[in-house]
Amino acid sequence: MKDILPHEFGVYQHIIDVAYNISQRYGYRNLSTPILEYAQVFDRTLGPTSDIISKEMYCFNTKGGDLVTLRPEFTSSIMRCAISHFTHNLPLKAFSYGPLFRYDRPQLGRQRQFHQINFEYIGTDGAFRDAEIIKLAQDILSELGVLCIVRLEINSLGCTKSRALYQQKLKEYFINYSTSLSEDSLKRIENNPLRILDSKSPKDIEIVANAPTIDSCYTYESKMYFEQVLAYLELLKVQYQINHKIVRGLDYYCHTAFEYITDALGAQSAILGGGRYDGLSKIMSGPDMPSIGFAAGIERLALIVKYEQKKRRPIILIPISEEYINHCIVCLDQLRNRNLYTEAYTNGKVSKRMEVAIKNNAKYIIFIGQDEVNSNKFKVKDLDAKSESDVTIEEFLQKVL
Ligand code: HAM
Repeated sequence: MKDILPHEFGVYQHIIDVAYNISQRYGYRNLSTPILEYAQVFDRTLGPTSDIISKEMYCFNTKGGDLVTLRPEFTSSIMRCAISHFTHNLPLKAFSYGPLFRYDRPQLGRQRQFHQINFEYIGTDGAFRDAEIIKLAQDILSELGVLCIVRLEINSLGCTKSRALYQQKLKEYFINYSTSLSEDSLKRIENNPLRILDSKSPKDIEIVANAPTIDSCYTYESKMYFEQVLAYLELLKVQYQINHKIVRGLDYYCHTAFEYITDALGAQSAILGGGRYDGLSKIMSGPDMPSIGFAAGIERLALIVKYEQKKRRPIILIPISEEYINHCIVCLDQLRNRNLYTEAYTNGKVSKRMEVAIKNNAKYIIFIGQDEVNSNKFKVKDLDAKSESDVTIEEFLQKVL
């Protein structure tokens, strides 16, 4: 878990601003859920064999005896919120951002507290919606200037029937390798063989390379749905690569699953991931609400987004002796009220204060002394033009605003 220092904040805010601006084009509204939720919001939804549930949740008992969790993702929280507030007002298009918590081994691009921008489109189905939200993701990456170093990988996890068939086929395949698979994957053969496809263990990667792929198990409807999504992506000029090994780490996905991958970040190559989750509402005892969404890691994006934070240049007020400090404070307030970044340097030799102002990249220095107070005209030094003038505050404001 890291501090975000002022010089790092600019790019974080830029990513959020870009996501927010694009969310407005697509009719999303901001939604913020609590960082702390009852543990069951995630227990019941992410799947017992997912990494998050099996080892990454920050759970604890409150004084009142409730088991609570620091949210590891947005989707389940937003679905909980949608079931409480929006079932009669669908679809819900929700844009969120904020901190999330996963207890995993930290490395470049992976923190235990990290931040996401997150989009959920709840209560909507049809292949166009899948393509539309992928286009939204792409618009953000394009606006952030990183589209050239990422690629979209897409898969369909099919309907429940396709997945059940595929699980069976994978079990039969992996059982032949029970002496060679990693320990983690061995445990998954029975309860979630799909997750073996995600394994990073070198032992497993070779075996996975020849595993059957899900397209061999699609029902006719699942195949058609996927083909339609791809056709809409082509219509929207979104380039993609089909990767049947993308299963995503969470159990709630069906049909479309996608990730934007970069080669610029080593092992943590996924900067954005999402998919359709039509069954999640029912798992949470809600009504039928087919949905789709995605999230991108702000820290990971920040590592690849080129952004130079503009340094605002201050106006510096210098009272030339202590008796003018009150006058200086009034001027300071006046300029700040007009939204101008203004500081007052009140201590030390005037020449020293001027040096500090120049060092801090000031644009103007305004001196306040007897003549200025008497005439109500201030000596203003323009550090760019290297000129001086005597002007009233109103004249100065006219010049700079
Ligand atoms: P996810 O793939 O777990 O999906 O996370 C989405 C993105 O969050 C990742 O691609 C990555 O950029 C970032 N991320 C995840 N874990 C970390 C970490 N420990 N440190 C830094 N960045 C991280 C979800 O969270 C789904 N809820 C996305 C979704 C929304 N699906 C449907 N709607």
